[in-house]
Amino acid sequence: MQMPLSHWKNDAEYVALVEDLIYHEELLHMETITHHHFTNRLEHSIRVSYKSFQIAKKWNLDARSTARAGLLHDFFHEDRDAVAQLNIGSHADAHPKIACENACRITEISELERDIILKHMFLVSRCGLPRYKESFVVTYVDKYVAIREVVEPIKEIAGSRLRNLVSKLSPVNVNI
Ligand SMILES: [Fe+2]
Ligand SMILES: [Fe+2]
Repeated sequence: MQMPLSHWKNDAEYVALVEDLIYHEELLHMETITHHHFTNRLEHSIRVSYKSFQIAKKWNLDARSTARAGLLHDFFHEDRDAVAQLNIGSHADAHPKIACENACRITEISELERDIILKHMFLVSRCGLPRYKESFVVTYVDKYVAIREVVEPIKEIAGSRLRNLVSKLSPVNVNI
């Protein structure tokens, strides 16, 4: 039912860049948090990180920062209600700030990585214009991945309901 994860585990270059983060207990905890209705926050973050990394490599951008900040762009453990109670803005404005603070606690964050995380909600928050090409890659990939994470399971559910309904209909009488 879920959108499949790309084969990031087989990509030694990618794993080497993120393995200190991807197996960190605070990131692993995100596997328990539902994200975009049909997936979890860790899987979503890995999809965004790996796809952004592949694009950054192809375009000769900073693939390391793109992979790491992509992985940390939604690094928060609160649900929407808990984020709202913090009173630091709308969900779209607030969660990148929380993610950036959390990221700074567990690793060193460069200016570029900071921009990627803080601006990943570009166009749907008040974060302002991203400063780097890598930030544009991650914000675009985040939206692309999020849409697929929601649309693909819905298509599958609708398709299976339709097949089920059709299977219950009487066969058409062709002897008219
Ligand atoms: Fe986000
Ligand atoms: Fe995201």
